[in-house]
Amino acid sequence: MPLPNNSEQPSSDLRSGDLLPRILTRPPGPQSRKLSQRARRAEAPGINTLYDDHDNVFWQQAKGCNVLDVDGNRYLDFTSGFGVAAIGHRHPDVESALRRQSERLIHGLGDAMGHSLRIDLAERLQHLVPVDDAQVYFAVSGADAVEVAIKTMLLATGRHRVLVFTPSYHGLTLGALAASSRPTFRQPFDAHLHRHMQRLPYGCSPRDIEKQLQGGDFAGVLLEPIVGREGVIFPPPGWLRSVADLCQRHGTPLAVDEIFTGLGRTGDLFAVDHEGVRPDILLCGKALAGGLPIGAVIAKQSLMKAWRTPGEALHTATFVANPLACATALATLDVISKLDLVETSRRLGVFLAPRIGAWKDQFPCVVDIRGRGLLWAIELQRADQASRLTRQLLECGLMALAGGAEGCVVQWVPPLTITAQQLSWALDTMQTQLQEISNEGSRC
Ligand SMILES: Cc1ncc(COP(=O)(O)O)c(C=O)c1O
Repeated sequence: MPLPNNSEQPSSDLRSGDLLPRILTRPPGPQSRKLSQRARRAEAPGINTLYDDHDNVFWQQAKGCNVLDVDGNRYLDFTSGFGVAAIGHRHPDVESALRRQSERLIHGLGDAMGHSLRIDLAERLQHLVPVDDAQVYFAVSGADAVEVAIKTMLLATGRHRVLVFTPSYHGLTLGALAASSRPTFRQPFDAHLHRHMQRLPYGCSPRDIEKQLQGGDFAGVLLEPIVGREGVIFPPPGWLRSVADLCQRHGTPLAVDEIFTGLGRTGDLFAVDHEGVRPDILLCGKALAGGLPIGAVIAKQSLMKAWRTPGEALHTATFVANPLACATALATLDVISKLDLVETSRRLGVFLAPRIGAWKDQFPCVVDIRGRGLLWAIELQRADQASRLTRQLLECGLMALAGGAEGCVVQWVPPLTITAQQLSWALDTMQTQLQEISNEGSRC
């Protein structure tokens, strides 16, 4: 594949992150390859996804929708850093909140003593999240929030079974892993996964769910409102509402994992808003703090009161409700509201639907297109096509991740602040690359 002209000199000025890509050297370039060697020696295998025959791209800077690598290549980030950079990387308001807070308090005393920002953030979430009479339990990551949600349901009901779905991804700590479905993640740890997770197919008939719930021994139901990492899979229309009604009828708490889908990603503030569902528990993470690690579980007080304990907190972590993350979360929520990014995401989703949707008829290698707002899946016939496509896109400057349970899906998860010019460039680039993959397919 021809590479763009490399006569330009590297520049580290990403302006506001509204630039088009500029590839100077085929990624991963020489500096990235050198760092890959060092990482291979210094870091455990797996955590840096380096294999013997595969070097990684190393990031140097990111701003808005742009990422600059250590070789001076500039990309358009259609991963949003795993969905984190919804308001773009290093938003100026996040940077100034971070600066201000770093001059006062960087670390607190977790659950033992408080600081006022965590109350400000909890109050914001109480009012923002579609959970009635809510309180907030902070966590240090998405998976940690899933642990809190599962424990909340177990504590509050005194029951032990949890209904989960296949496919699903809730994180990889042992509790979250027990709820997640992918066999390759689960199998090595199978002996230590909870035996009390009952699993049904995602989007299954509500009758099958009711059959499970009517036994009365379920502590809760945990689901993604749209399956994210496992392939951007939508349940049938009305399914979420049916599950919520069933949970209510059988007195079973419903926990909705909006760690990926929340905060505007799907064109609603939360994906459950699309069907007017108000779950008992809602989980937030990823985009919440504009790039800093935090998780939050927002649940009805009637459930949260189960956590009351005369002794030490039953679930906590050293870094819980970190002051820097609380400060940037407040700034992030302000930016989402100030820039009307939920409406932007909805509008851009409507704009993209016919354009991306057309690829299914246009390119034989595309078997399905799914999406809403700024969360899209382009599903190819085979996993090797999806990984080839992501590599070719990277070489053009478009960073996207291959995913889905079978690895056949290329995900589009751009920042909600993407410009019209960047979006149009991405559409053109994707068209060209899909054409190449289709041509190669027809030659085979
Ligand atoms: C829906 C969902 N839940 C939970 C998680 C786990 O979050 P973390 O990686 O922050 O632990 C993820 C991460 O991709 C996710 O997509």
